[in-house]
Amino acid sequence: MTIKIEKLPAALGARVTGIDLGQPVGAADLAAITRAWLDHIVLIFPGQDITQDQQLAFAGYFGDTGARARKVDDRPEGSELHEGIMLITNDKDGDGNYVGSLPDGEMFFHHDMCYVPEPHKATMLYGIAIPSAGGDTKFANMYRAYDLIPDALKDRLRGRTAIQTYNYHPTEIPDADGDMTDIHHLSQPIFVTNPDSGGTALYVNRLMTARIDGMAKDESDAILEQLFEIIEDPENVLQHKWTPGDIVMWDNRCSCHARTDFAPGERRYMRRCTVQGGPMVAAA
Ligand SMILES: [Fe+2]
Repeated sequence: MTIKIEKLPAALGARVTGIDLGQPVGAADLAAITRAWLDHIVLIFPGQDITQDQQLAFAGYFGDTGARARKVDDRPEGSELHEGIMLITNDKDGDGNYVGSLPDGEMFFHHDMCYVPEPHKATMLYGIAIPSAGGDTKFANMYRAYDLIPDALKDRLRGRTAIQTYNYHPTEIPDADGDMTDIHHLSQPIFVTNPDSGGTALYVNRLMTARIDGMAKDESDAILEQLFEIIEDPENVLQHKWTPGDIVMWDNRCSCHARTDFAPGERRYMRRCTVQGGPMVAAA
C-alpha cells in the first residue's frame, strides 16, 4: 500500500488512505502522517478495523497515552477497558445505565482537557457505530481564528489568560463566580504557540472558557462571544460526517471541536484515546 494524503476542501483537515493502522507504521509513513497532522490539524483515516490495543499502539507513535480526568472507579465504562480508553456511546447495560461517557446530544465547541496543567496534545477517535443522521464532529482551525482577530482586540488580549473549566455537562458552562471547589478549573493563555509547528493559535472555546482573567464579567462575555463567532464561522470549520471505520486524529493545541445533535434512539459507539501533551505555551 502507498500512503496518500489529500487535503479536504475546508479550513482544515486531510484524508489519509493507503495505510492500515492495525499494522506497525514504517518510518517514512510515520513522517508523512506527522507532517500532515501538523499541516492540516485533523487527519481522517477511513476504512480502519482495529482493536483497542492497536489503537493505543498507533497513538503511542506520537507520545504517551493521556490519562483520563475521571478516576477509573467513577467511570461508566467500569475498569475492564485499558484506563486510557474512553467509550463515547449511548449504549446501555441490562439495567438501563449508560456503558460509556458523553452518551447523547449536542456538545459545544471545546478543547479536550484544556482545564488541566498539561492538556492532551492529540485525540484519536474511532467510529464503530454511527447514527444515520447527526452526531457529526465539527472542527475549528484555531490558527486561522487567531489570524482573523482584529488587531486592536489582539493587542488587548496579548499576554492574558482565561479560566478554563469543565463540569461534564456538554452544553453548559460553570459560573466562574460560583462555587468552583469541585469543578475542574485552571487559567490558560488565550494565545498559545504549538511547539511542534511554531504556529500561534487562539485557545478559548464556548463550552469551557468561563472568564478572561482580570476582566469584569460583562466585558469578558462580550469579547469571548466575539471570539466564538470567529471560531465557529462555517468558513473556519470542517464538519465530519462519520462512516463506521473512520479514525480521526486531531491536534488539541490548534483546533477545538463540537458534536451535532442526533436522535437518542440511534446507536453511536466510538472509542477514544489521547496523547499526553506538555504545558500550554503562551504566545510571545
Ligand atoms: Fe472532545
